[in-house]
Amino acid sequence: MTETVKRPYVVGNWKMHGLLSSLPSILDIDRAAACYAGVDVALALPFTLINPAAITVEHATIGGQNCHAAHEGAFTGDISGRMLMDCGARFVLLGHSERRLGCGEDSATVRAKMRATLDDGLAAILCVGESAEQRDAGLAVTSVQEQLLASLPEDLTPADTITIAYEPIWAIGSGSIPQPAEIAAMHGAIRQTLRNRLGQQAETIRLLYGGSVHDGNAEALLSIADVDGLLVGNASLDPRRFRAVVRAAQQASLQPS
Ligand code: 13P
Repeated sequence: MTETVKRPYVVGNWKMHGLLSSLPSILDIDRAAACYAGVDVALALPFTLINPAAITVEHATIGGQNCHAAHEGAFTGDISGRMLMDCGARFVLLGHSERRLGCGEDSATVRAKMRATLDDGLAAILCVGESAEQRDAGLAVTSVQEQLLASLPEDLTPADTITIAYEPIWAIGSGSIPQPAEIAAMHGAIRQTLRNRLGQQAETIRLLYGGSVHDGNAEALLSIADVDGLLVGNASLDPRRFRAVVRAAQQASLQPS
C-alpha cells in the first residue's frame, strides 16, 4: 500500500464560544498559521463569527460546526452549506457527538448533511467516536467503524474533500485520553474501513484525533501512527495554547518518518 505524506491539519472547534470581541484572538491564531506554514490551520466557529473572521484572516481556514441537509427551504433557525460557503466558510464539522447526543442527529442525518455539504463545495470533517460504555464493553472499534460507514455518503468521489476526526465521547472535555496504542489501533481501523470503501482515495484522507488535546499533549499525540492532525476544543480558545499545538504539528511534520 503506498503511503501518502499529508500536511498536518490542526482544527480549533470553538463550539458555542466567542463574540465579535474575540476577533483579536482569531487574528492571533491567523498569525500562528502564517508562522507555521507547514501546517493547515482551521477554525470551526459559531455562525455569527464566520463572516467577520473569513474576511479578516489571511492564512487560517474558517468553517462552521453544523449545517442543514437541504440547500434552502422552510427550516426556521437553520443554516445550509450553501449559506456557510456564501459567508466565507470553506469546511464544516459534521456528526460531532455534541450534536449526535444533544440534538438527536443519527448517522443517516449526518450522511445527508455530508452529501449536501460536499455538493455545496465545502470540505467536510466527519466526527466519529465511541461512548465510555462501548469502550468498556470492548466495542469501541466496531462501533466507530459502524458509525463511520453509516455516516459516509455512498457516492463519494475523489472530488469530495473529507477529513475524519476520531473523538472518543468520554475524552471530550474530561482531561482523559486513550492510550497511544488505543488511538493507533482506532486510526488504523478507520483507515482500513476507508480503504475497503474507497480504495486508494483512502490514503489521502487525513485522520484527526480530538478529545482533551492541549499544548502539553499535542506532540505525543501527533507522533502516533496515522494521526494526521488534531481537533482541539477548549485549548483552541486560548491563542497562546493553540499556537503551541500548531507549533507541535509543524515540528512533527519535520520529523523523519
Ligand atoms: P476538548 O478539546 O475541549 O476536549 O473538545 C474536543 C472537541 O469536542 C473538539 O471537537
